[in-house]
Amino acid sequence: MGEIKLKDKVCIVTGATSGMGKAIARAFYKEGGRLVLSGRNEERGQTLEEELPGTVFVPGDVGNVEDNKKLVDKALSTFGRLDVLSLNAGMLGLGSVVDLPISEWKKTLDVNLSSIFYISKYAIPQLKKDRGGTILINSSIAAFKSFPNHPAYCASKGATLALMRQMAVEYAPEIRVNALCPGPVDTPLIWDSAKAFEDPKTAVENAANATLLKRLGTPEDVAKLALFLISEDASWITGTAMTIDGGILNT
Ligand SMILES: NC(=O)c1ccc[n+]([C@@H]2O[C@H](COP(=O)([O-])OP(=O)(O)OC[C@H]3O[C@@H](n4cnc5c(N)ncnc54)[C@H](O)[C@@H]3O)[C@@H](O)[C@H]2O)c1
Repeated sequence: MGEIKLKDKVCIVTGATSGMGKAIARAFYKEGGRLVLSGRNEERGQTLEEELPGTVFVPGDVGNVEDNKKLVDKALSTFGRLDVLSLNAGMLGLGSVVDLPISEWKKTLDVNLSSIFYISKYAIPQLKKDRGGTILINSSIAAFKSFPNHPAYCASKGATLALMRQMAVEYAPEIRVNALCPGPVDTPLIWDSAKAFEDPKTAVENAANATLLKRLGTPEDVAKLALFLISEDASWITGTAMTIDGGILNT
């Protein structure tokens, strides 16, 4: 049997009840990670706790400061240490600059960007104490290019990379901080995103065909990269935004 990559590593995974967050939770669990999972849907959270025995589900809204503190506290009260933050929760906030309500702009920035600041603020002292911690932000290729009717999404995803670099510099060498930048991945979010187009089904098919590799990514494709980036195999990688997009940025 090969090495168990995350033996006894305590990992917080947000956005864990759906899409990439769920695939990441499963991948970390398989490698021995002890998981604290965050999501909004309690029923889906319970199902996940049953699927991955020994994991703890903490319901909450990542845009809420106190819920982030609760998540870190729960990791410590349950497992007594903290090693990994895998931050996947995200929303789209669809609408052009003129049409997008200001409340929706603020909410999107809260969920996609401020949530990362909030949880990092509470988790970093503990990660430093437990030495060897790592933070992995699920950003997007939207950090590098625009998409119609996604101003809040693109702005927030771009800013996550600036925050990632800032934290990588400030908390090295104890803590590694990196970001994933996925292209089109087959999750509920891409189908919501396609609603910004006249014909959503065609928009998703077009996104798949626009990749060099002619398919959407799967949540599992991304989970493999996430596992690599938080593991010891990536111990010399920090401050990096890693694209995983079927080559779409090169088209
Ligand atoms: N699917 C794609 O094509 C794609 C591409 C690039 C980046 N991403 C990013 O990947 C991450 C995961 O998204 P996904 O594609 O797996 O979609 P998804 O819809 O399956 O997952 C997003 C998760 O975030 C959660 N969430 C949203 N708002 C929240 C809040 N306020 N509090 C707590 N949780 C909240 C949702 O409940 C859901 O579980 C997101 O940050 C997204 O922006 C997705």
